[in-house]
Amino acid sequence: MTEAIVYERIGDIAVLAAQNPPVNALGIDVRRGLLAGIERAETEGARAVLIYGEGRTYFAGADIREFGKPMEEPGLPDLCNRIEAAKLIVVSALHGTALGGGLEVALSSHYRIAVPGAKMGLPEVHLGIIPGAGGTQRLPRVAGTEAALEMITTGRHVAATEAFDKGVIDRIAEGNPREVGLAYTQELLEQNAPRRPICDMPAPEPVDFDATYERVLARGRGQLSPAIAVRAVQAACEAPSFLDGVRQERELFMKLMQSDQRQGLIHAFFSERAVSKLPELADVTPRDIAAMGVIGGGTMGAGIATAALMAGLSVVLIERDEAASVAARERIEGNLKGALKRGKISQSHFDAILNEALELATNYAALSQVDLVVEAVFEDMDVKRDVFAALDEHCKPGAILASNTSYLDINDIAAATRRPSDVIGLHFFSPAHVMKLLEVVVADQTAPDVVATGFALGKRLKKTSVRSGVCDGFIGNRIMNSYRKAADYMVLDGASPYQIDRVMTGFGFAMGPFAVADLAGLDIGWAARKRRAPTLDPRERVVHFSDMLCEGGDFGQKTGRGFYVYEEGKRGGTPNPQVAEYIERDQRDQGVTPQVFANDEVLRRYMCAMVNEAAKVVGEGIARRPLDVDMVLLFGYGFPRFWGGPLKWADLQGLDSILKDIRRYAKEDAFFWQPAPLLEQLVAEGRSFDDLNKEAR
Ligand code: 3HC
Ligand code: NAI
Repeated sequence: MTEAIVYERIGDIAVLAAQNPPVNALGIDVRRGLLAGIERAETEGARAVLIYGEGRTYFAGADIREFGKPMEEPGLPDLCNRIEAAKLIVVSALHGTALGGGLEVALSSHYRIAVPGAKMGLPEVHLGIIPGAGGTQRLPRVAGTEAALEMITTGRHVAATEAFDKGVIDRIAEGNPREVGLAYTQELLEQNAPRRPICDMPAPEPVDFDATYERVLARGRGQLSPAIAVRAVQAACEAPSFLDGVRQERELFMKLMQSDQRQGLIHAFFSERAVSKLPELADVTPRDIAAMGVIGGGTMGAGIATAALMAGLSVVLIERDEAASVAARERIEGNLKGALKRGKISQSHFDAILNEALELATNYAALSQVDLVVEAVFEDMDVKRDVFAALDEHCKPGAILASNTSYLDINDIAAATRRPSDVIGLHFFSPAHVMKLLEVVVADQTAPDVVATGFALGKRLKKTSVRSGVCDGFIGNRIMNSYRKAADYMVLDGASPYQIDRVMTGFGFAMGPFAVADLAGLDIGWAARKRRAPTLDPRERVVHFSDMLCEGGDFGQKTGRGFYVYEEGKRGGTPNPQVAEYIERDQRDQGVTPQVFANDEVLRRYMCAMVNEAAKVVGEGIARRPLDVDMVLLFGYGFPRFWGGPLKWADLQGLDSILKDIRRYAKEDAFFWQPAPLLEQLVAEGRSFDDLNKEAR
């Protein structure tokens, strides 16, 4: 008997307790232990088997770290079939999260009991696969086809009460899983309850699978696994036998297991957990944060204050004058009303936040007791330096002073204070109470416990925090500027903005770059271009069609016109006919002969620009590892999760082919397409970005 499953005999019941922390994943030792336990129970003449998990959960699924390696026997599908075929009754007692293969083991058991807090689901689609141990065959037999389709294609975790209502579990009972499991098993034995294999139940009722497939495929924006799951459930209804359905599920599962999307999604799973684990902070204690200050209550300040308030912090928000304070309060109230409507906060929490936790002021003296301040005033170094000098004056010793600047140098901002070691960048994304990304920008003198506090705050606000060094635009905006330029150059050279948006949404982005620019406001980029114009390198190509839009007063969605025209009450926009005129004028002025771009070429240039700049960001140490860049793009820029991030995507394409294309583009524009030294090095050494991730672990 392996240690992962402990066998114990209590009267007629053989108890199999899983001990594989932290989440009782169904790795090879657990599978062997369960198989041996069932066989021993039968041999010893036990009348029932109880399966439960020690620690925080029942089985949270297959061991994802085994994916991509040869499967060691027994595999999970065979194990589930063997559990179900056991000659005695098998009971599973669920607590924590019974997910994926975990729920499949539970469904192979003949009876299921759960404690009230237990959650269960088949979340495999989020890993680019489908349930592979009979989940798509057994769940519809107990829950019905519609309910099973919903659970499997969304991967949603379902609470015990809902699972009970759907027939997924037989009973809910208060207590620990061992106690409630033993009592239930004893009761079943006393009643002489029969074995109850789900495989013997009739096939579930079919639905319109083709229509469901199309709907789920469209919702996935290019992600395949949810749609493939529909076909597996279809097999449950239509296959000639249960075992044939299991075989069809297995075939679809194995196909997805080989896919790039599976690799991308599993990279995302592990990277989002690795990204905030910094070895240098392992022994550093963060400072306590209870009260927070926010300077500036515009778009970002109001969003940051909302996020902090919803996480239970008190907030003092400083604005320039009374009128701006009122506007800031209204913005926060509007954000909170949205959160209330979506069920993120209760009415009493809403009231308490507005009446007790939020204070508005126009005088910095109100900040004397705050533990951390985030500045979100205009993007202007002189204004920010004044603000930081005032913060230095009024905040207590040990208070952390953070800037939400998008581009400005945190070292220069820190120099406006007498406490540069307490200064850090905390770069939120708009809307700040919704977007998951937080860049924690570490300046030259930022103290380690200040960095640790940035990460602790991110966790409290439920953000994915990524460490960034100081550079123009930090990790995300610096890379975005680069792929935006590639898009602009393609438009000047003949591609249309609408073609580029279409290609990039086809790749999996929620919006293309020109629709995003309209949403953010074209005036922002226009101001940045004007600011940078005097310092431009003469070799840099410049486009003017966006400036022409702005000169005409078209700033995007907020003015109703930009690259698209937005009609009141309608979602999305239609192409703005003036844009083509502006582009033609720009081409004429610059003597450019437009060329035709195939969609593949559009994608390739856009992605090569992203990867090249990302490689520079890693090579210069601005991002610690390739996976840090991947998480920034995933959580802040809508990069499709199923590709794992731009550098995972690059690995999947092959770095040599990317470098070859960059060198080809460099023949047209050597200034923009300078290959990243790190990319050249990796190609020369035959290594990948993922090799760098592994070395950094
Ligand atoms: N396999 C291997 N490791 C796993 C794992 C799994 N299935 N699930 C979690 N872990 C690891 C995490 O990587 C993390 O490791 P770390 O401490 O080294 O970073 C550790 O366990 C703790 O995980 P979390 O930090 O995520 O802990 P939480 O308490 O926040 O969340 C959880 C727990 C809800 C179980 C979450 O970890 C989770 O969602 N796990 C994945 C569940 C899943 O997708 N299961 C299906 C797997 S696929 C499958 O079963 C195929 C089958 O159909 C054949
Ligand atoms: P905004 O213009 O909406 O808000 C700025 C607010 O600061 C205004 O309400 C203004 O009254 C107030 N303010 C200006 N000077 C002040 C002072 N001295 N004291 C107190 N209040 C003052 O600007 P937005 O978009 O919120 O941006 C703020 C900062 O956040 C900028 O540094 C910007 O680069 C950064 N940022 C913006 C993002 C965005 O998408 N809008 C995303 C991430 C960062």
